[in-house]
Amino acid sequence: MQTKVVVISEDNIESDLIQEAGRIIQEGGLVAFPTETVYGLGGDALNPEAASRIYAAKGRPSDNPLIVHIAKWDDLAVLVSDVHIKAKQLADAFWPGPLTMILNKSDIVPKETTGGLDTVAVRMPSHFVALAFIKAAGGFVAAPSANLSGKPSPTLAKYVIEDMDGRIDMILDGGSIGIGLESTIIDLTEEIPIILRPGFVTEAMLTQVIGTVKLDKTIFQSIEGTAPKAPGMKYKHYAPKGELAIVKGSQEEVCRKINELAKEAKERGKKVGIIATEESLLFYQAHVIKSVGSGTDEAAIARRLYQILREFDDEQVEIIYSELFSTEGIGQAVMNRLLKAAGHKVIHV
Ligand code: TXA
Ligand code: MG
Repeated sequence: MQTKVVVISEDNIESDLIQEAGRIIQEGGLVAFPTETVYGLGGDALNPEAASRIYAAKGRPSDNPLIVHIAKWDDLAVLVSDVHIKAKQLADAFWPGPLTMILNKSDIVPKETTGGLDTVAVRMPSHFVALAFIKAAGGFVAAPSANLSGKPSPTLAKYVIEDMDGRIDMILDGGSIGIGLESTIIDLTEEIPIILRPGFVTEAMLTQVIGTVKLDKTIFQSIEGTAPKAPGMKYKHYAPKGELAIVKGSQEEVCRKINELAKEAKERGKKVGIIATEESLLFYQAHVIKSVGSGTDEAAIARRLYQILREFDDEQVEIIYSELFSTEGIGQAVMNRLLKAAGHKVIHV
């Protein structure tokens, strides 16, 4: 399949290209598009065959449900059996934006889209290209992140091209992404809403709007035998090709330990990478050392993390050591993704 790649900016957002992308979706095809979190791989959410094509393009197991993206509030009522009061409150506060809500689905949503579940995940993204594209596509776009299954979510169109060229009809290149980590997912079907995946919209921000929320217990721990409620969170995700471990302790001890481990790995003939901060960068020795940004700027770390993991892949790094970062604000989402990328391998010093 020939994949058409087009650059979309403020200048050509009104052009026929967005209409063409919308038509592809309506005809059952697939289009990757930018959102404010990561790039998505879109198909018609109401067409069961489109869902199967998405799973095939990603190489993803089909029990992993998709998020349905909408462009206007009224469309939520089409997808769900009843619009929860908390959904309205959260939408007023955070939509369009990086928040996904799980609600009981209506009959119109095919089980292929929800991985067989009776619930549906819905999000209204804020990226202007995403909104224009969803409207042109008919209003309901199912989209996982536009990476091959098991790879970090793409934050640049070049990574979408790397993973999806030849597998989908079109890629809308909207430049780099603002947030860099996937949306927060909150399950509103439970008595007390549960955060299934942390993101830019934090627990504190949610609590302020709807009161008490819980955190799914698998977010920070790998608990044997406990299935995360978001089926996608159980797969080894966001993983670089190299083997990643996180080192935890005081800054000084972490530096010493990482240097020691890096030296050992190098002696075993391995290519070693280190994920550091701007502040600690100079203290390390290894083949490849990358800074995620200032250790006190969680938003910058979120924006850089997936790109760094991809860069290590490009540079064929075999062993990666990372510091542990702040869990303030979006830092919680950063640590959740980093721990998953490392398969929860943490070395305490
Ligand atoms: O920021 C984002 O959310 C991006 C952009 C493209 O919008 N999308 C994204 O989709 O991250 P994906 O497919 O990579 O992750 C969706 C997650 C999976 O872990 C999936 O299991 C969970 O949402 N999910 C979807 N529907 C669900 C449902 N009905 N119940 C529980 N979890 C659900
Ligand atoms: Mg994903």
